[in-house]
Amino acid sequence: MHKTLIVTNDFPPRPGGIQAFLHNMALRLDPDRVVVYASTWKRGAEGAAATAAFDAAQPFPVVRDGATMLLPTPRVTRRATALLREHGCESVWFGAAAPLGLMGPALRRAGARRVVATTHGHEAGWAQLPGARGLLHRIGEGTDTVTYLGEYTRSRIAGALSAAAAARMVRLPPGVDEKTFHPGSGGDLIRARLGLTDRPVVVCVSRLVPRKGQDTLIRALPLILAEVPGTVLLIVGGGPYEGALRALAASSGVTDAVRFTGALPWGELPAHFGAGDVFAMPCRTRRGGLDVEGLGIVYLEASATGLPVVAGDSGGAPDAVLDGETGWVVRGGSATDAAERIVTLLRDPALARAMGERGRAWVEERWRWDLLADRLRGLL
Ligand code: GDD
Repeated sequence: MHKTLIVTNDFPPRPGGIQAFLHNMALRLDPDRVVVYASTWKRGAEGAAATAAFDAAQPFPVVRDGATMLLPTPRVTRRATALLREHGCESVWFGAAAPLGLMGPALRRAGARRVVATTHGHEAGWAQLPGARGLLHRIGEGTDTVTYLGEYTRSRIAGALSAAAAARMVRLPPGVDEKTFHPGSGGDLIRARLGLTDRPVVVCVSRLVPRKGQDTLIRALPLILAEVPGTVLLIVGGGPYEGALRALAASSGVTDAVRFTGALPWGELPAHFGAGDVFAMPCRTRRGGLDVEGLGIVYLEASATGLPVVAGDSGGAPDAVLDGETGWVVRGGSATDAAERIVTLLRDPALARAMGERGRAWVEERWRWDLLADRLRGLL
């Protein structure tokens, strides 16, 4: 039986898009044919308990390394090689190409017949740094296929690879579970719970880091409130930027119009998307292109829920929106651009509904996990 060893630093319960991507793909490969080798989420009893509970619930084995970050060291390479042999795996999938894809040649020598390395936003950032470009080049040479999310990441990463490796690249974006994220996902209950039943709600679901643009939404709020009084910005997610965002809301005089939920369990996400009239995340590129959006699964989750989307123009985020059809792409970081589009949608529920319906149909056509998992299965 053909088995795949998935080697990754990005696996739940650690939250995030790469983690969601890998987990959903792993679930759609035959569970008897998957073994995951992953780093430990975080140290301490709480992290260990959450990790153990998560791993026990998976239909495939998850082998955890004691390190919180796997690097392609001799020790990690030996462990990956041993797992490959022990489980009789014939293919390897590096969930994020950089840097673990550097182990490709060693795993091939140990018997792997197919080696696939998937790239995300961060490899597009790497492709700009001279030293890291060299590593990406080596990863391309040591793997059969380097996958990419969309045209933006492909164009950046291909430039670091040899012509032959670039020609072998295959598009493999993440998808959406259209049965989990759907219109009528329980948003009314969330609105009632938060006391927002009759108020216009702009929802943003994401880790709280500067790139995502929750700060831009807070800066846009006074403009939005002037046009659509009573609007509330519902910020879902947790992260290091929360204190700065709360301070910005206070200094902008909009504390009463912003609700922070903190990080939520996966099961609560669909209803929180459903609590919005509009989904907005005006992400922006930072640090000279090193901190850039690869795609943005959240835009697709919002479309699947039937919401119109306002996205930023960072990296590959525009690939997740049909501009003018499922929503709009705005200049990341521009509060006035975001406010203008959000106000248009809040004032015109028929337009918002039409864009949401188009987004839902687009997800059903193009972004279902099942379609994308078939592609990965073919590569492996
Ligand atoms: N459980 C939980 N709780 N999930 C959350 C929370 C939360 O509070 N907040 C966000 N999420 C989930 C979202 O629903 C989504 O499934 C995922 O975390 C975030 O994925 P992305 O929107 O894709 O962003 P990312 O920055 O974490 O992911 C990176 O890699 C992705 C895959 O390649 C970026 O480069 C993305 O642009 C890229 O799509």
